[in-house]
Amino acid sequence: MRKFTSVHDVPDPAQWLWEVKELKQTPYAHKKLGENKVLGLIFLNPSLRTRMSTQRAAYNLGMQVMVLNMGQDSWQLEWEQGTIMDGAAQEHVKEAVNVISQYCDIIGVRSFPGLQNRETDYHEMVLNKFIQHSKVPVLSLESATKHPLQGFADLLTIEEYKKKQRPKVVLSWAPHPKALPQAVPNSFVEWMQAGEVDLVITHPEGYELDPAIVKDSPVEYRQDKAFEGADFIYAKNWSSYQEYGKILSKDPAWTITEQKMALTNSAHFMHCLPIRRNVIATDAVVDNSIVIPQAENRLWTAQLVLKKMLESL
Ligand code: CP
Repeated sequence: MRKFTSVHDVPDPAQWLWEVKELKQTPYAHKKLGENKVLGLIFLNPSLRTRMSTQRAAYNLGMQVMVLNMGQDSWQLEWEQGTIMDGAAQEHVKEAVNVISQYCDIIGVRSFPGLQNRETDYHEMVLNKFIQHSKVPVLSLESATKHPLQGFADLLTIEEYKKKQRPKVVLSWAPHPKALPQAVPNSFVEWMQAGEVDLVITHPEGYELDPAIVKDSPVEYRQDKAFEGADFIYAKNWSSYQEYGKILSKDPAWTITEQKMALTNSAHFMHCLPIRRNVIATDAVVDNSIVIPQAENRLWTAQLVLKKMLESL
């Protein structure tokens, strides 16, 4: 496996789900696989879960890890070809990634969107430059438009907690004070479409996600109606895709409360974290949720992705 950027890089998601459950039971069974292999984790943005779970996953496979906070610990990068580099950027991405891929056997990169220009963000310039210039496999640690490690962990969590073969899963927009990317909801939709679930998306008008991602997944604008009979509620804020990067609403009526959870089929509450309590969901909802085991699954899904990449070296 040369790249992991979305569920579309996974040949058989159902098979991966089966393999990750097995890996979780025997986390150190492949300790020899990563011997003398180095994972480079490149962060252009902050992270808690992705950073630590991917590091731990690498250790479980016997790898060594180097972490670089790009632009803080290292030089500022130039991304465009042919630029006269007399500004702030001291190093071109071409040299930087070529050099990093001599020191590392696998590279992970996190790069959030600017949320200014939809076309630029949806072209995934940063991630694609890494893939273009790297000599080794590249995995996304969350790109401008996708967070595939999160989506995979979310599907595993639903698989573990579901009480029926095909649960009803609701992705609900919730308010937030800042403009956030669409990466998590995009990947959540894609992984749910690859799984055995009935997905319903609910959000205020104006928050429609990319139609190329939503496809024929149903959208219900009435949150209360969407919650009826749900087995899982997955809350997330995102900024507008249509009026790109804008906050159109901070309506607290969309906050997930115990009263709303009472409309469901005793649904499990999920969120990728970090979560703003009493903005996205009330304390009581978060305290009675499965967000902690959901975050644990970030470790196992990252470990399977790294295992696949090591096996392809
Ligand atoms: N869910 C997630 O990706 O968390 P971090 O941003 O802390 O890595």
